[in-house]
Amino acid sequence: MTTNYIGRPISRVDGRAKVTGAAKYAGEYNVPNLAYGCVVSSAIAKGRIKSIDADEALRLEGVLQVFTHENSPRLAQSDQSYTDQVAPPGSPFRPLYGDEIKYSAQPVALVVAENFEIARYAASLVRVEYEGEAHATNLKEMRGEAYVSKPRTLIPSPPDPRGDAEKAFANAATQLEAEYSAPFEHHNPMEPFATTAVWEDDGKMTVYDKTQGVQNNQEYICNVFGLSKDNVRLVSPFVGGGFGAGLRPQYQLFLAVLAARELKRPVRVSLTRQQMFSFGHRPETLQEVSLGASADGKLEALIHKAFSETSRFEDYREEVVNWSGALYRCDNVRFEHKVAQLDVYTPIDMRAPGATWGVYALECAMDELAYKLGVDPLELRLKNYAEKNQNLDKPYSSKELRECYRRGAEKFGWARRNPQPRSMKKEGKAERQDGDQLIGWGMATGIWDVKQLTASAKAVLTADGKLNVSSATSDIGTGTYTIMTQIAAEALGLPIDNVTFRLGDSSLSQAPVEGGSFTAATVGSAVKAVCDKVREKLFKLAQQIEKSPIAGARLEDIVFSDGRMALSIDASQFVTIADAMRHGRVNSIEEETTASPDDQKRSQYAHNVHSAIFAEVKVDQDLGVIRVTRVVSAVAGGRVLNPKTARSQVMGGIVWGIGVALEEESVMDQNFGRFINHNLAEYHVPVNADIREIDVIFVEENDSIVNPLGAKGLGEIGIVGVAAAIANAVFHATGKRVRNLPITLDKLL
Ligand code: MOS
Repeated sequence: MTTNYIGRPISRVDGRAKVTGAAKYAGEYNVPNLAYGCVVSSAIAKGRIKSIDADEALRLEGVLQVFTHENSPRLAQSDQSYTDQVAPPGSPFRPLYGDEIKYSAQPVALVVAENFEIARYAASLVRVEYEGEAHATNLKEMRGEAYVSKPRTLIPSPPDPRGDAEKAFANAATQLEAEYSAPFEHHNPMEPFATTAVWEDDGKMTVYDKTQGVQNNQEYICNVFGLSKDNVRLVSPFVGGGFGAGLRPQYQLFLAVLAARELKRPVRVSLTRQQMFSFGHRPETLQEVSLGASADGKLEALIHKAFSETSRFEDYREEVVNWSGALYRCDNVRFEHKVAQLDVYTPIDMRAPGATWGVYALECAMDELAYKLGVDPLELRLKNYAEKNQNLDKPYSSKELRECYRRGAEKFGWARRNPQPRSMKKEGKAERQDGDQLIGWGMATGIWDVKQLTASAKAVLTADGKLNVSSATSDIGTGTYTIMTQIAAEALGLPIDNVTFRLGDSSLSQAPVEGGSFTAATVGSAVKAVCDKVREKLFKLAQQIEKSPIAGARLEDIVFSDGRMALSIDASQFVTIADAMRHGRVNSIEEETTASPDDQKRSQYAHNVHSAIFAEVKVDQDLGVIRVTRVVSAVAGGRVLNPKTARSQVMGGIVWGIGVALEEESVMDQNFGRFINHNLAEYHVPVNADIREIDVIFVEENDSIVNPLGAKGLGEIGIVGVAAAIANAVFHATGKRVRNLPITLDKLL
């Protein structure tokens, strides 16, 4: 299929707006009469508020109000009203509701003032007295409380066991048992959460919010405050990184709307960087993996157990262990995932939730097994290659993982690896400031889901040849604006500059939150479907023209290109879109349609995206400093809609994977039950200096089953398995196996 736009490395259509500062973020909408809110956070992790004394704050000139649980208006009472598309089962947190403290840094008051500085100063004057209770924040001490949580929407429970894993493990020639731990991590995109709630005199409200789902948050606000959808418009055209935290409404949204509604004027609430550590996070997770193999390296038993935390009020559980049942062929498997409640906020999805931890543990265990067996780690994976998905007992709609291994290994030079740990050294000062370097090469596999949800899109084609397509999705930096524009321009054969795509507005056509790597397939299918409707209309108009050069043709015989509808067998026979509309006397064609997954077609197959990751580390022999000097990731993710944005997605995932392996960790001070490194000086994420060579290879899959576009989604696969590849490389370099993330130099020395 020849294409004009799909599959081409089109630069981001929103790039110019972003680099010039024209793109506005939630905290940047300056409206007349704007008031500013500042959040007061709880100093204790558990207990009650005995009293709040806001007198001093209120006496300050410019302070408008201090909202607390004592003067907060009566709002919706049912848990159902506070839930949202992504909420796990339970009783969602309600800000300023009652005197109970459920976690450290919980919002306890909102100070609203004429300007930000006064609000911030006044917040420091609010005196809160607490009655503390003993808190539990140490996951390791909570094993006795572990339970199997209720299922979450869209998140599969652990797969059923197959065969007899315990027996097969006991009888296996080679056995590997290992425990891996992964820390709390907090979402720290550049843009902190912020909301500007603009109250209008007619009782309507426009809410500029940082979110991955405008309609999800609109519905939340309507339910909580008893407002009608006609009166609440939620707007979020640009998001400075979501990371998953924007999948659910965050408390600054509630607070800004509450204050705007009470004060009848616009109010902005922005969270500080420290407050970015005061809600959801990637859950601390402990895992046990047992692998049994025959002498020649065939997996005979696999047991994978996970234990992670949730809050006291919601049952959050990720898809951690499931991947182990799909990635390798194994007939004796057993899985378990239990959670325990801590006095923390409910965890929330963070890029590749579940797989980031689960595949890390599995892929480190596979590496350890390879050493026990004396088999090359890549060869071990090929020996146990899964031709079908045994969790579902279905063939894959497409799976080019073998080719990922081959091309990734070739590009990386894996064949030159000496398997012996500490065998690849680099003496002396080859790199300035470097001492003697131990070189390590490690690899791992990645896997993620291919989901499609239901979404709608609207298209308006005007007689001047301009097409506007829209849907209430979001672009969290993934390239949604760009690929949707490409899909639409492709479908109608219009110059891409004539096509615009709108998103991030709750008044647009229905779309789910942007997440789970499902947006390209979900919204992309709706965009394609609505443009197909416009095509049909144009085609009908073209055929109605007297002596139409394409009369008698079928739509399938027509190519839409350069603003024309031409016969595919003879391009000289055509009608222009402009002529068709002029003859038909239509000024615009407007269509709206909904696209849903073709369940009948899809249900016979398993759908996954895969990757093979190869990593090189250099470890300073004296200081233990670890540098990731090379990463090659070969990804099989269906059809690549835009190699440029796709590469950025995967590269970003790899960068994050480096952070997961070596840097990111929210440190809990167990005495106080609070995170103590709540800033970007002490919560480390990769910076430019941490990143060297990154190579991304796409192994295309021609998959007509997943969806009409053949795109599998690339938002999360980039991060999956990266931490394992690096951990395995660190072992190869040093001979030391660190099983608790992040691998910091103190753990190596
Ligand atoms: Mo992603 S964690 O689904 O925003």
